[in-house]
Amino acid sequence: MRYVPIIKVEVGMVLGQDIYDGEGKVLFGKGNILQQEDAQELLHMGLPGVYVEDSYSEGVRVIPLISETLKQEALRLVYDLLDEERCQEIEQDYILEITRRITREISAGKDKLYNMIDTRSLDDYTFFHSVNVAVLATMLGIASGNLDLEELNMLTTCALLHDVGRRYVEANVLNAKRTLSEEERILVEQHPKLGYDFLTEHYDFAPEVEKGVLEHHEWYNGCGYPMRRSGYDISYYARIIKVADVFDALTSKLPYHDPVSPSGAMDYMLANAGVEFDPDLVELLDKKIAIYPVGCEVTLSDGRNAIVIENYQESMLRPKVRTLPDGEIIDLNQEEAKDLMVQELFV
Ligand SMILES: [Fe+2]
Repeated sequence: MRYVPIIKVEVGMVLGQDIYDGEGKVLFGKGNILQQEDAQELLHMGLPGVYVEDSYSEGVRVIPLISETLKQEALRLVYDLLDEERCQEIEQDYILEITRRITREISAGKDKLYNMIDTRSLDDYTFFHSVNVAVLATMLGIASGNLDLEELNMLTTCALLHDVGRRYVEANVLNAKRTLSEEERILVEQHPKLGYDFLTEHYDFAPEVEKGVLEHHEWYNGCGYPMRRSGYDISYYARIIKVADVFDALTSKLPYHDPVSPSGAMDYMLANAGVEFDPDLVELLDKKIAIYPVGCEVTLSDGRNAIVIENYQESMLRPKVRTLPDGEIIDLNQEEAKDLMVQELFV
């Protein structure tokens, strides 16, 4: 399987994964051969790209941190929670069941890297973003070694629910391509407090969960919102979510920007360690993000194109690749390839 940016998607390509909407409904199934109208539809939906199966990528396995089934269930849950009517039917036990499963699946693959491009549509940003932030935050929580299972479950729960307050902000404001008016900006900045109020009013989560939601836009230097808390006065969960939130937003297609590459996003995170983010958590993120995700196409310094087939945590800039179209395997981590490097990533 390999990742193809949307501008390079062609009729006849075979989908390597299901594509679903923010409700978790499958729109295009794995194995579908793309027709002219499908390619148009994918472009129209604002997908950044798709994973396809072809002879160049045979045997390349892209393994997500949580199963597709669980991701779909989690998407559906967030979708319902953000809906005025359906949210009334969502029991706390069901939310906790989903978040426990997320924690369990990520714990089972705790040595895995974050190695995938999320193929989500533009309109469904909040749902995919919530699930992705839960995955990234849980991965960081596990990597920190500071949290026991119960604490990890709480972290996953507040990460999945962190943007629930966006239910009170109109879509045309959330998706605005223009600069927001002062009034709109104030409304957007209220979403952590609105989410906190929603949870305290309708549910009975641990106070740590509620606090994680309330503080997820606080900055490490005290310049965030809503309370301008700083440093360790911001809860650990909120500091983790902040890192996951911004990394996911930067690498997503949004109404006002195209996705930034993982290395570009990591650059931003490192530059803002100690400003927006807890520096220890940025350091942790840096060890878990595959700068050149498996299945992505890169250009090597000798001009050849290649697909990334494996990453090494200790040497993230030097993955193992397969050249296109001749299929030569080059392990950039080996002595004999020391003169070669990755020049560019296509995302
Ligand atoms: Fe938020």
